[in-house]
Amino acid sequence: MKPNIKNIAVLTSGGDAPGMNACIRAAIRTGIYHQKNMFGVMQGYQGLIDNNIIPMDARSVSNILHLGGTILKTARCLAFKEDEGMETAFRNMQAKSIDGLVVIGGDGTFTGAKRFGEKYGINVIGVPGTIDNDLYGSDFTLGYDTAVNTIIEAIDKIRDTANSHDRLFFIEVMGRDSGCLALRTAIASGAEAVLLPEKETSLKDLITKLKEGASTKKSSSIVIVSEGNKYGGAYDIAKSVKRKFTHYDTKVTILGHLQRGGSPSGYDRILGSRLGFAAVSHLIKGETMKMVGLRGNEIKLTSLEEALHAHTYKLEDDLLEMTHVLSI
Ligand code: F6P
Repeated sequence: MKPNIKNIAVLTSGGDAPGMNACIRAAIRTGIYHQKNMFGVMQGYQGLIDNNIIPMDARSVSNILHLGGTILKTARCLAFKEDEGMETAFRNMQAKSIDGLVVIGGDGTFTGAKRFGEKYGINVIGVPGTIDNDLYGSDFTLGYDTAVNTIIEAIDKIRDTANSHDRLFFIEVMGRDSGCLALRTAIASGAEAVLLPEKETSLKDLITKLKEGASTKKSSSIVIVSEGNKYGGAYDIAKSVKRKFTHYDTKVTILGHLQRGGSPSGYDRILGSRLGFAAVSHLIKGETMKMVGLRGNEIKLTSLEEALHAHTYKLEDDLLEMTHVLSI
């Protein structure tokens, strides 16, 4: 039977991602439009435990569409993994008669939401928000497009100085155990090579590639290293390459958290708005334990179980081969 949801809370959890504010705005306003009482939970699941749950109106989300980060703040909450923490969170929701929950985040967020929903029968809808783009059920996750553009902008700048000095740069990008960000930014920045968590790194092949470039008068080389690459981080790779490739002037840049900040791209503003709108609309219609995601150009539902179970991004070998070909 369709639940008659009256009070809906929204939270962001895990790593922040550009576009989360657009999504919060859309979720809050969609609920208000349908005469629901809307709440914002501060600092993700931690705010549920600490009872840091605040009523929101349409004006609470004014002028945030263009802002990076999340106005609700976020956290990686260990206490919510414990039965006691989850129980406290549930009691705090009960005290405010909150009967619907929208969680915006990545796989850690969904794991918590699934357990919470199963244990207490909470009506919950997930929104994929992570720069890593590694969730099953959405072609793109919120924040990924902005992060790609931020990384490209940084690499373009590094390319200028790398070219001027004839240098070899190793640039480390985020993505945890997914190489999606690294592969896409390698294509878009014309990197000479990319090292990914999904593939074994062959130092021999990398050096051969760099030597070929040097012998065909490449003035600079950029190697993108995904942070989850099994051989090691950008510093480790640079050190190993330098030992065998001594004449090259080698530098390392770790892009770090600048990849997660900044004003969301137009794409992420639109995606965040669509996903926030869809999350609350589906919650009101009685959907629960599902994630809203973009497939093709349509918003589709995927069960949290499936989104988590099949969450690993499958690296596209054809794109990797293309990167290799185009960087000769
Ligand atoms: O999941 C998003 C992400 O930015 C990953 O790419 C990265 O590995 C991780 O979060 C970093 O997390 P934190 O900000 O907690 O160090």
